[in-house]
Amino acid sequence: MTQEELFKKLVAHCKEYGFVFPSSEIYDGLGAVYDYGQNGVELKNNIKRYWWDSMVKLHENIVGLDAAIFMHPKTWEASGHVGAFNDPLIDNKDSKKRYRADVLIEDWLAKQDEKIDKEVEKARKRFGEAFDEAQYRATSPRVLETATKRDEVHTRFADALNANDLNELRQIILDCEIVCPISGTRNWTEVRQFNLMFSTQMGSTAEGANTIYLRPETAQGIFVNFLNVQKTGRMKLPFGIAQIGKAFRNEIVARQFIFRMREFEQMEMQFFVRPGTEMEWWNKWKETRMAWHRALGFGDENYRFHDHDKLAHYANAATDVEYNFPFGFKEVEGIHSRTDFDLSNHQKFSGKKIQYYDPETNESYVPYVVETSIGVDRMFLQVMSAAYTEEKLEGGDQRIVLKFPAALAPIKVAVLPLVKKDGMPEVARKIVDELKYDYNVVYDEKDSVGKRYRRQDAIGTPFCVTVDGQTLEDGTVTVRHRDTMQQERVKIEQLRAMVDEACSYRTLFKKLSL
Ligand code: GAP
Repeated sequence: MTQEELFKKLVAHCKEYGFVFPSSEIYDGLGAVYDYGQNGVELKNNIKRYWWDSMVKLHENIVGLDAAIFMHPKTWEASGHVGAFNDPLIDNKDSKKRYRADVLIEDWLAKQDEKIDKEVEKARKRFGEAFDEAQYRATSPRVLETATKRDEVHTRFADALNANDLNELRQIILDCEIVCPISGTRNWTEVRQFNLMFSTQMGSTAEGANTIYLRPETAQGIFVNFLNVQKTGRMKLPFGIAQIGKAFRNEIVARQFIFRMREFEQMEMQFFVRPGTEMEWWNKWKETRMAWHRALGFGDENYRFHDHDKLAHYANAATDVEYNFPFGFKEVEGIHSRTDFDLSNHQKFSGKKIQYYDPETNESYVPYVVETSIGVDRMFLQVMSAAYTEEKLEGGDQRIVLKFPAALAPIKVAVLPLVKKDGMPEVARKIVDELKYDYNVVYDEKDSVGKRYRRQDAIGTPFCVTVDGQTLEDGTVTVRHRDTMQQERVKIEQLRAMVDEACSYRTLFKKLSL
């Protein structure tokens, strides 16, 4: 199965099992907007809890905030979003399709890397044990030719982005002979800038209305509340403010399901530090966030950092945590050193002093900021992609199983009476009642036990508990484990401790060494 086929199956699975639905589907959906179903909302909440607790509970110097989506319009002038939150767009005149010019070039660059990797793999097979990869990469004429071209284009690309040179971006597309995937032609328009913010009107009449924006990032709600939180919480630098909330961007190229949406959710943490210490903190937060991702156990090799070619208007250092999605390594999270850009600008635009008095140095200054910013939906897709597994079973059967870390699983336990009689449903209901105050538990009595197991595998339930004849005699049940499919006999009183041990966030948090 190709990665593309795998991704299609994943999207279909998300719909079939109540994880993600297209928004307003009965009206044929709305581009790049999605709804989360009965299982999706549980997984999403668990991801948010994993993030929130790891920030707010595990760090004494990080507190939470829930700011409004609507903010004073000046916020977005101060933050630079009105002037600079743009994407460079290009249209293909034959297909009439619109693309992000930077994405077309990034895809081309990624293809060159793939080409090189393929050459290396071919050589590895040819030379066998004696193969020296480093030497091959440094000397193979074919690899060197591709790498040189790639590096030249990469340098031109980074320069063009940093200089905001739209003509040069178009020229790179022409020089690299990039074609439209739909029409297959190179008949491109000019490149132009497009602001990504959604706007609406506030006020009862159109005349008296004020244009306001749906926030494109949650971070600004934190910046404008810096003094409120610092003063009321008597916070001392360094300290952080964490927030989870919706953000909106009028993405033109909305692709790859919930990877790039127009309405999405962010989990952002702004960490305020003394100027001059920001690089140290930026490195520390890179490490901390990578540990958070890796603790989920989806394979360290599937994560990497990717430093930005073009720094956002507010940053002096920025990196992405990328995950190896079925469509390649892509950004899940950004870790940015934002300097004092935002606080200083809010100070300027609002005319209010936004400074911190440092009792250690006896000085007042505008703090610097290191930000960690991760998309909930993108993290959701990451967890889904990593968990989705198709397995061949003995006897030729196949099962689809979502191997979620137990703490993130939407349902923790399914309780199944073997038959709908002889008092088994009553015992099963009692077990559900015992566990339901602490966990999401379902009761299922329809179909054969085998079919019920498959249903739970498909939504990633770690435990299936079967009540049978023996239960009525000795108070034990069969616990069937999702990943190994192994079964064991357990006393009903032991169930709670078993589920607790496996599903607690503690298991994940212990790996973070915080
Ligand atoms: N406050 C900084 C900021 O917003 P960003 O790199 O533009 O930085 C941070 O966004 C994260 O938000 C991304 O790494 C991604 O996970 C998520 N994100 C951004 N745009 C998104 C979109 N259109 N759909 C889904 N998630 C998005």
